[in-house]
Amino acid sequence: MKYGHFDDESREYVITRPDTPYPWINYLGCEDFFGLFSNTSGGYCFYRDARMLRLTRYRYNNVPTDTGGRYFYLRDSGAGNYSGDVWSPSWMPMKSALDRYECRHGMGYSKISSARNGLAFSQTSFVPLGDKCEIHKVTLKNESSAEKNVDMFSFVEFCLWNANDDMTNFQRNFSIGEVEIENGGSRIFHKTEYRERRNHYAVWAVNVPVAGFDTDRQTFLGLYNGFDSPQTVFVGKANNSVASGWSPIGSHHINVKLAAGESKSFVFVLGYCENPEDQKWEKQSVINKKPANALLEKYSTPEAADKALASLNDYWKSLLGRFTVNAEDKKMARMAGVWNQYQCMVTFNMSRSASYFESGIGRGMGFRDSNQDLLGFVHLVPERARERILDIAATQFPDGSAYHQYQPLTKRGNNDIGSGFNDDPLWLIFGVAAYIKETGDYGILDEMVPFDNNEALSETLFVHLKRSFEYPIKNAGPHGLPLIGRADWNDCLNLNCFSSTPGESFQTTANFESGIAESVLIAGIFVFVGPDYAEICRRTGRKEEAEYAEKEVAKMIETVNQHGWDGDWFLRAYDAYGKKIGSRECEDGKIFIESNGFAVMAGIGLEDGRAKKALDSVKQHLDSPYGIVLQQPAYKNYHIELGEISSYPPGYKENAGIFCHNNPWVTIAETKLGRGTRAFETYTKICPAYREDDSDLRRLEPYVYAQMVAGKDAVRHGEAKNSWLTGTAAWTFVSIAHYILGVRPVFDGLLIEPCIPSTMKEYTVTRYYRGADYHITVDNSAGVEKGVKSITVDGNAHNGNVLPVFADGKVHKITVIMG
Ligand code: GLC
Ligand code: GLC
Repeated sequence: MKYGHFDDESREYVITRPDTPYPWINYLGCEDFFGLFSNTSGGYCFYRDARMLRLTRYRYNNVPTDTGGRYFYLRDSGAGNYSGDVWSPSWMPMKSALDRYECRHGMGYSKISSARNGLAFSQTSFVPLGDKCEIHKVTLKNESSAEKNVDMFSFVEFCLWNANDDMTNFQRNFSIGEVEIENGGSRIFHKTEYRERRNHYAVWAVNVPVAGFDTDRQTFLGLYNGFDSPQTVFVGKANNSVASGWSPIGSHHINVKLAAGESKSFVFVLGYCENPEDQKWEKQSVINKKPANALLEKYSTPEAADKALASLNDYWKSLLGRFTVNAEDKKMARMAGVWNQYQCMVTFNMSRSASYFESGIGRGMGFRDSNQDLLGFVHLVPERARERILDIAATQFPDGSAYHQYQPLTKRGNNDIGSGFNDDPLWLIFGVAAYIKETGDYGILDEMVPFDNNEALSETLFVHLKRSFEYPIKNAGPHGLPLIGRADWNDCLNLNCFSSTPGESFQTTANFESGIAESVLIAGIFVFVGPDYAEICRRTGRKEEAEYAEKEVAKMIETVNQHGWDGDWFLRAYDAYGKKIGSRECEDGKIFIESNGFAVMAGIGLEDGRAKKALDSVKQHLDSPYGIVLQQPAYKNYHIELGEISSYPPGYKENAGIFCHNNPWVTIAETKLGRGTRAFETYTKICPAYREDDSDLRRLEPYVYAQMVAGKDAVRHGEAKNSWLTGTAAWTFVSIAHYILGVRPVFDGLLIEPCIPSTMKEYTVTRYYRGADYHITVDNSAGVEKGVKSITVDGNAHNGNVLPVFADGKVHKITVIMG
């Protein structure tokens, strides 16, 4: 069943009923202020760091799910024989029956429209460019033939800034809440902890005079009431409560008289304001409101809000104009051209920190995750990719290893998960190579970058890459394969952990440092990124280093050939006793997706038929209607020598779930074999737009990828979990844009190498690349899966399949004939 539809013209997903199988959300904000916004106005917002600077409270794992947000309540006092009514126009939190409902999630904004008993409501929510706030423009329209007398109540609940503390430290928290109120209540300021070490406060304001306000939660809701039965709204009159401790909220009460047919708009602003340390106060105990006043001045009219939304629309239009797709297959075109890239921007901003699944209090930016995410947005915002690379590299240790994650606010590596994931270093080469291929900016290699965030330990970025490259060589095991350390890409393959203590972290515990457990996947990653490292060396005059790198790559290929092949597929690893993992010899976990995808992507076994054999084995043993599962057979029991992977029930997460992140590796690997039909099939199986009709089973948003879909061993095979923040976004974009549609940046230009189903007869791609627009039409009337017969550039025959760097600000017409 479907719960909505795509509106391609306006780049929106239109949700047509509020009771989606799970909250279907959107992200507001694309710079440093962010909001999560569900189709029923649930969610929360924060400035820069979801843990440290949270503006509004959100209860995870709540019952019912998705309670808490920026709510509006309406109360129609009635007239004639209509006795009046109270309802939530966004459906939640009251679950009010609505005569009409629609939520449009667009690029950086969402719009909820509804109606009940002749009163239409619309709420357009977004974060304007350049400001640290959410704007909620609300319009009420009287669609009845009689005058209406409406009371509107706004509602937000403030978080006491540190979202983790906020949920736990009640002995302190219940006594520290403070607010200020101005303009008769239209401006509400949340200033908890401002009296001491904070220099920031939040403001929740509306641009019209109010009839009253509330800032104390219990007074507003009434004792023992939930958000679904706020006493104040039923009574129809605010209490002008001033919070002192307990739970500060912001609620405006506005009287709205509407003649028949009349409409009125209101601008609500929820903002973050900061003062210099020496200008915190206007006078004793009164905060300096200058920044808030300036912000509210700017958005004091509906026209100003509309203008800000129009600029935001222009911003997204030009951003997404950098890569567009037109094809008969609309699902593919809208995902590749719009939604996949949009999701990539969100993962760029969030890494894995704040979603409805990632609470935003635990995880910072991941070293490996952020490097991979980069592939999905470097063509959109190369300058910001550059900055991201330098930030990530600064958390690397002098020996090439890395903090597994860092805090976005401080940009410092954090010790929560520590280090020792031995794949981490290589992803830096992966990210930097992608950046250089996109931009041609070799200058980044000369930037001085600290190790371990210590300026005194600064070296050039190139030295960082060198340490990355050498790490797996210097940390090799008995077979010459890279040691796995805490884990490799698969966080849950914890081969040195040996945990028997409940609750002990699999990622930071090492009860048996074997110095033996090795990873074939890391070897594959090494062979995949090694040639790029060598190429970077060669192009920057480091000929000897390039030769050394090529020698090491050749050696690693040899090692994989000798010790990484199981007969019909690539092995996955060797455990702490030197026993094989991912082998026909194993009882469970005989074959894994990761090492097979990566080895073939890296080109191992292409000449001698093993690559084909490996991918055929993947298809035979791991494929399912909803994607390729991580391994088979699923582990039935907990294995102390394997760690977290065997802790999950069969079919979930790393224990044979469809872990979407690694599916595109197989897609790309298939294009290496030239099997376009199969490549496209693996692409579509995890692509959400193809599962829109199946939303009851899938449950999550049909416009974004999910981290995991339950595998064949699970009860609800096909059910998705953990949407939005996943490496799946970047990798699927790479698989479709670079390898299937085949427009791929390389060091010298844009490589054209389509690999598509033979039934795909034509498509066009426009690509902005190093200062010029490439308008590419691919003609496959020959009906092949791979192979380029000819290319013309602006009408002239072109030699080879790398399009040159024009950098002339012009549009170039490229025709590609397959055959
Ligand atoms: C999660 C992590 C990622 C890891 C993957 C597989 O997506 O963010 O770093 O590679 O799980 O375990
Ligand atoms: C990744 C994995 C998850 C694991 C977590 C540990 O997110 O997907 O299964 O529990 O890492 O940090």
